[in-house]
Amino acid sequence: MESFGENIWTMDGDDVRMFRLLPFSTRMTVIRLESGGIWLHSPVLPTPKRQRAIDALGPVEHLVAPNKIHSLGIQPWKALYPSARVWASPEFSTRHPDITIDTTLADGMETPWNGAISHCVIDGHAVLDEVEFLHKPSKTLIITDFIQKHHVAGEPWIWRGIKQLAGILGKDGGVPLDIKLSIQDKAAMQKSVDTILGWDFENLIIAHGHCVRGGAKEAVSRAFDWITEAQ
Ligand SMILES: [Fe+2]
Repeated sequence: MESFGENIWTMDGDDVRMFRLLPFSTRMTVIRLESGGIWLHSPVLPTPKRQRAIDALGPVEHLVAPNKIHSLGIQPWKALYPSARVWASPEFSTRHPDITIDTTLADGMETPWNGAISHCVIDGHAVLDEVEFLHKPSKTLIITDFIQKHHVAGEPWIWRGIKQLAGILGKDGGVPLDIKLSIQDKAAMQKSVDTILGWDFENLIIAHGHCVRGGAKEAVSRAFDWITEAQ
């Protein structure tokens, strides 16, 4: 596990294949709340080793599916910790009617973790219903798919080429091309991005690729520049 400050860590999972082909590294974010309970964001599949590492931090209280695609670890962790509460993105239940959730996240909603973690639904996208989070004590923004910076090492040239074209390769990666091409309402998305850029953060955790420690606001602002340009 990698620490991003007091009470916040990341844990990498196994690689998955997008569209059954494209290799994606995966990562979950782990936050210990004031209650001592653990908040798992985009959980990777549990293994005995991963479970031991989480158990050492505290009891799992919350499981968060930040968008309708990131469903992988929700049920397996829920099976291990039946009392954990499942929070999911706006479209998650439509995509996964078989996965029981407790609460669908919405802007302005009160949560038991509001004191430490803010959330914002990215509005205006035709496909991706992503909720972004801010861990306030560590000034860390947590983004799932809207920003991707895939590792170059070990990738066959064909995947490197595709990721380069999609604008998601290396530390300079950003918002994937397919996301840029499927926006429904640019003004609405700009409003959501403005909310996020108004948050007080210095670090960025993403699910796929390189995270940013320090100076993340500039990197995030740059990643979303194209929305303003596109309007
Ligand atoms: Fe993803």
